[in-house]
Amino acid sequence: MNRPLRLGVNIDHVATIRNARGGDHPDPVRAAEIVASVGGDGITAHLREDRRHIRDEDLRRIQDATDLPLNLEMAATDEMLAIALAHRPHAACIVPEKREERTTEGGLDAAGQHNHLQRYVDSLREADIRVSLFIEASERQLDAALRLGVPVVEFHTGEYAHAQLDGDSERTARELKRIADMAALASKNGIEPHAGHGLTYENVQPIAAIPQLAELNIGHYLVGEAVFVGLEEAVRRMRDLMDEAR
Ligand code: PXP
Repeated sequence: MNRPLRLGVNIDHVATIRNARGGDHPDPVRAAEIVASVGGDGITAHLREDRRHIRDEDLRRIQDATDLPLNLEMAATDEMLAIALAHRPHAACIVPEKREERTTEGGLDAAGQHNHLQRYVDSLREADIRVSLFIEASERQLDAALRLGVPVVEFHTGEYAHAQLDGDSERTARELKRIADMAALASKNGIEPHAGHGLTYENVQPIAAIPQLAELNIGHYLVGEAVFVGLEEAVRRMRDLMDEAR
């Protein structure tokens, strides 16, 4: 039987809208409460160096407001490590971060940054925080994740999402196979595979059907849909599509 597939909802862009006016509405904490009430499995939030969406004080407020596990996306910097150790989220996903990028554009170069990353992985693990690395679905990166001793990897689905948006079915199939193959390999090696980035109602099902995947993290599309149908409805519909694909 396929393992259950968790849905982590990334609420960053509720904070993006809030910050556009500098006030406190819409509050990402309210979004977290709604996600909890409709059966979301976790809250994901990326505290970026420039604090363009989630801010430091949001983390504690989100943790206080719901019992859902918090997955903190963070760059491998001393500042973020100190914040993670102070907040002790359930999970921390190490992501690459460039100040000028619009979103997290590619995976972490775990292979090229082994020595830099090891200290962060070890410190987070010692604090009982479940560490994952946001990587491209490639053997090279998966090998590096294995050497770093992380329990989880999250595969970047951005290329797959782009290919699907471009209507390029061959590329979409190739990207999907790459993710499916690496999810199988991760699982075989004792690493729990997750996936996320750019997932929508239209492209989620082939990813959700990959049997080894344990969690999808989805944000921008859900917050966008929430503008039209409300966050409850958007999360429910995504959940239904994921379950149907399983
Ligand atoms: N997973 C990770 C590690 C991310 O950094 C992000 C946001 O960039 C997501 C998932 C969610 O991506 P999206 O907002 O495109 O759904």
